[in-house]
Amino acid sequence: MDLAYTSTLLSLLLLGITNDVVAGLHITKVTVPTPVEVGNGGWLDCEFVDEGESIYALKWYLGLDEIYRWTPAENPPIKTFPVKGDPLTVDTTLSNKGKVKINDLTLGASGVFRCEVSAEAPDFHTESDVATITVVDLPDEEPRISGARSSYQLHDDVMINCSSQRSQPPASLTFYINQELADPGWLIHYPTKEDPETGLETATLGLRFPLRPRLLRLGSVSIMCTASIFNLYLKSTEVLVLADVPFHASIMEGRAAAGPGYPGRVSSVLTIMTSGVLLRLSH
Ligand SMILES: *[C@@H]1O[C@H](CO)[C@@H](O)[C@H](O)[C@H]1NC(C)=O
Repeated sequence: MDLAYTSTLLSLLLLGITNDVVAGLHITKVTVPTPVEVGNGGWLDCEFVDEGESIYALKWYLGLDEIYRWTPAENPPIKTFPVKGDPLTVDTTLSNKGKVKINDLTLGASGVFRCEVSAEAPDFHTESDVATITVVDLPDEEPRISGARSSYQLHDDVMINCSSQRSQPPASLTFYINQELADPGWLIHYPTKEDPETGLETATLGLRFPLRPRLLRLGSVSIMCTASIFNLYLKSTEVLVLADVPFHASIMEGRAAAGPGYPGRVSSVLTIMTSGVLLRLSH
């Protein structure tokens, strides 16, 4: 059976029971752009069916602050209201009814957006529904691996940190050793550090493991750290930790690339490579 028909039947039924209930007007869907990058925008969309009721007003709120009002009986029908801190701007030329174009979002626009639709007098029957926007400020830099020594002996503890600077929310960090997810027991979780002025957060993850011969590939261990935020950001940084291993020990490992001119000792050089991949899903 048709949904609209069913709900009309339902309203008639309800009207029959209590005179003051008007169940015609209701919100069917509320959508918002999320997650969204700082400086970008999108559409707030509040879909409703009036089922014969006249709309008095449709309002959009960010938290407790009204940002937009559409009152079809008034001229002009659209009003916008400034909010402290200017977390966003509303494009009144593109906005209509429940569909509102918002631009220039700042971190202050993260929060609950509420659409409220009310019917004409005498009932002023009101319906509301909410959706949450998360505004994302991407990290300033690629993830940074620090703390590595210039030289390690076999069975030394390798202790390093990976950090992703100043983002909101903080980036999720992951360590890979030789392209495999690092043993969770080797991870050290540090609390994120918040910049009190900007509210941006720096995430740090520690890694500590013994430099066992089985980890060596051609005399070195690859350590990669990835930083990600939702599906908006993914970057990685890789370092090679070279062990100070005598040549014959590497041969016994069976993994050394012995060839002409291959040095007797693997030099203790830390090579840093950065391979950044930035994934941006278009809105
Ligand atoms: C890793 O970061 C933590 C927290 O900032 C710090 O206390 C620790 O000394 C760092 N370790 C290394 C190896 O850099």
